[in-house]
Amino acid sequence: MLIDNHGRTINYLRLAVTDRCNLRCNYCMPSEGIDFARNDKLLSIDELVQVSKIMVSQGIDKIRITGGEPFVRKDLMVLLRELSQMQALHDISVTTNATLIGPYIDELKQLGIKNINVSLDSINRETFERITRRKQFDTVHDNLIRLITEGFNVRINFIVLEGQNEQDIIPILEVMKHYNVSVRFLEEMPFNGGSKNFGFIKWNYHAILEHIRKTYPNYKKLESPKTSTSINYKIEGHKGTFGVIPSFSRTFCGSCNRLRVTATGDMITCLYGKPKANLRDILRASNGAENVSKAILEVIGKRAKTGFEAQKEHAQTVFNNSMTSIGG
Ligand code: GTP
Ligand code: SF4
Repeated sequence: MLIDNHGRTINYLRLAVTDRCNLRCNYCMPSEGIDFARNDKLLSIDELVQVSKIMVSQGIDKIRITGGEPFVRKDLMVLLRELSQMQALHDISVTTNATLIGPYIDELKQLGIKNINVSLDSINRETFERITRRKQFDTVHDNLIRLITEGFNVRINFIVLEGQNEQDIIPILEVMKHYNVSVRFLEEMPFNGGSKNFGFIKWNYHAILEHIRKTYPNYKKLESPKTSTSINYKIEGHKGTFGVIPSFSRTFCGSCNRLRVTATGDMITCLYGKPKANLRDILRASNGAENVSKAILEVIGKRAKTGFEAQKEHAQTVFNNSMTSIGG
């Protein structure tokens, strides 16, 4: 079992497989993109499998595949096939923008991968295209509905962006009320690759809930797992649920059960902190596997208590990195 220096059990690995994305969301990176990593800097599929095996043997039982957009990586299914063979891994989940997942839906089902989180910040075509700077609305919509109707456990992640999509909060709940899906509204975070200044957020989780309450005054709070990022609610008559994720307010650090590995192998113990060790470099040197295990134990023993504490590791308060290179 992996237990950090604050007594928190770490059982959840967020494993990024690429820093590339086929969308250009304006809160994540500038329109020209960022300085993406060269292929030889990425963990290979074999290395991703090796790192996963080591972590699973140490107590990780949930792996969420993130990116960038995971399906940009052509060999992703090879990794997912390997992960699905690992007995001690109880939960394999994927976070995706749903543009490229279509051809893989049948195999995901066969592999027993049921938890798919879809990033979707608007159900209005024009707003979607303005935010993502790409014309992929129909594909995303079709894949999303297919995932839901084929029985996947789908969560929609909708980042509330001041001046951009707040008018779509109620409409997305209205459209999704007929489906068994969880719509989660997220606070915006500062990791935008330098594409815009980031300071105070108007749409914190209180503001989001107040906004929803005006239309649905009787929503009920649901019990959620202790380690959940989202606080979840039910609106009467809606088939699914909705939630808020205080990703910027960081109210859930006390039960943080996660470790991140970026596509280039950096191990990150907090989203807001600095990378701690590079597993790719360790793995490619002699005694790789053994030293990887040691490095994991070492960083787990020195975690910041909260995201606010971790943030102090940065010299300045401005984050120039992009969510796509951290893995979300
Ligand atoms: P489940 O596994 O379904 O509970 O989802 P998750 O929230 O762990 O993962 P997901 O990839 O859907 O994360 C969605 C967003 O939640 C991320 O892009 C972040 O904005 C936020 N988030 C996820 N994990 C963390 C975290 O550890 N800290 C903070 N501050 N935000 C997080
Ligand atoms: Fe964990 Fe850092 Fe997120 Fe808090 S902000 S939940 S410590 S990753």
